[in-house]
Amino acid sequence: MGRLAILGALHEEIADLLAAMDPGAAIHRIAMRDFHVGTLWGTPCVIALSRIGKVAAAATASIVIQEFQVSRVIFTGLAGGLHPRVRVGDVVVAKALMQHDMDARPLFGRHEIPLLGRVCFDADPGLSAALQASAEEFVRIGVPPSPQADAARAQPAVHHGLIATGDVFVNDNDLAHALRERLPDALCLEMEGAAMAQVCHEFGIPYAVMRVVSDTADHAAKADFTDFLVNLARVYTAGILKPLLLS
Ligand code: ADE
Repeated sequence: MGRLAILGALHEEIADLLAAMDPGAAIHRIAMRDFHVGTLWGTPCVIALSRIGKVAAAATASIVIQEFQVSRVIFTGLAGGLHPRVRVGDVVVAKALMQHDMDARPLFGRHEIPLLGRVCFDADPGLSAALQASAEEFVRIGVPPSPQADAARAQPAVHHGLIATGDVFVNDNDLAHALRERLPDALCLEMEGAAMAQVCHEFGIPYAVMRVVSDTADHAAKADFTDFLVNLARVYTAGILKPLLLS
């Protein structure tokens, strides 16, 4: 099997992965990004910081596919919880991804990706099942306490379902409510996953997305997101990906 790409939008989301790479990883600088090529927990990898948003994620995905011949791509990071069952501290593994801000009406249906004839991109079932199993193991034994997590819950949940992507950080009760009404199946929202998914789909490369819920996309989202990013993002990412890569 070829190299695995692991992408994240912010440094904290991939920091512990970079720190855990075997010594001697090569850094290739392309299009204002560093691509770290080496071995992580026994697996040949390229790890990169995409930066935030759909264009950044799409550019980074196409570079890892074309320049580093990766056979699989994983996008990891934080997300805002959307579905009422999804709480801060939970993990969401994508079954499918869609772009909630795509709207080419009346030329195409709402959310339809023009000329691809589809709304959703399906994540690779095998890679997603492996991520889900790792996440379940992590929440059972490894999750550090979170100040925002619901104290009444024994352990965070791992969900598998739809992730909604758009070029907007949702920090607003009304917008979050409108998105919940429009996309009742969406578990969480973030700003990169479905863009990477579209690029991988177009190249025929299997992919998966794993997100940790840092906030609930309401008026407190900025503070909750920042707190989670600084204190917990790196622990979750490394804690979930390590068993997957070692297996
Ligand atoms: N990623 C984490 N929280 C988010 C939010 N509230 N909106 C968009 N992306 C996010």
